[in-house]
Amino acid sequence: MTYDEKLARFNEHIEDGGKVETNDWMPDDYRRGVLKFVEMHANSEIMGALPERECLPIAPSLRRKMSLAAKIQDEVGHAQLLYRVAEDLGKSRDTMFHDLVTGRSKFHNVFHYPVRHWGDVAIIGWLIDGAALVTQAALRDSSYAPYARVLKRICAEEQLHLRHGEHITMELSAGTDEQRAMFQEALDRWWLPIIHFFGPRSNVAKDLLLRWKVKTRTNEDLRQEFLDRYVPKILELGYTFPTPVPYRDADDYLVRDEDIDWEPLNDIKKNQGPETERRLTWRRDIYETHRWVRDAMAEPAVHAA
Ligand SMILES: [Fe+2]
Ligand SMILES: [Fe+2]
Repeated sequence: MTYDEKLARFNEHIEDGGKVETNDWMPDDYRRGVLKFVEMHANSEIMGALPERECLPIAPSLRRKMSLAAKIQDEVGHAQLLYRVAEDLGKSRDTMFHDLVTGRSKFHNVFHYPVRHWGDVAIIGWLIDGAALVTQAALRDSSYAPYARVLKRICAEEQLHLRHGEHITMELSAGTDEQRAMFQEALDRWWLPIIHFFGPRSNVAKDLLLRWKVKTRTNEDLRQEFLDRYVPKILELGYTFPTPVPYRDADDYLVRDEDIDWEPLNDIKKNQGPETERRLTWRRDIYETHRWVRDAMAEPAVHAA
């Protein structure tokens, strides 16, 4: 079969809702696209562990500290699962890690921002994990089967993260004026990055990952689901929104495209976010500090001698 014949058959398979396994034939663009997408997801999980780790010392009780530590551990585990999926597509884990810490690859926008107090832990657990769950739940139907399988497990754990975040939010919201002010202040800082999290409107004609059903829904569709699910809850708790302020239209809560300032996201895409440099340096330092563990695992006989 010629390349074009294989491609036509592949397209037909995808069109019929077929799945793709690691050893199946796939177009080079499909392999490259999935690899980059899963690598970015893995990077985001491991970088996402850092902001919350910064909050561990300020946990208000031992119970909260334990649940936050467990969540952080889960996120690192998600990265491990995802790096494995990406690795099978032809890029070694070492190269992926090197590309991450040298700023050659990307991680999600929300992890480029600072954390200031316990209100941030509520926002990250409830709204950022909530946003991630909306996107990841949709990806469980991805055409790339190994990714879809791993996401089933990840989503189950993300549900627990959501509960953890929701619980902290409820506690702050039912607390003192100072506690409510903490949540509001964090919401004011995080709202725009959360809107950015889903990305700008998808270009359906050009987006190969959408065409090949690696991604199953457009960015704006996912953002809309998030807004409809969370805006009413936030309003019910008595908080207000900074720009872009959502408004109600029949059953939907919408934000106007012209109200979204994309400039901060454009900086982050160039790895120039407020905390990018510091967090990447931290991640690089951890990588170096732990080098002896990797060396020992790679050459057990030498070290045992
Ligand atoms: Fe995660
Ligand atoms: Fe999570």
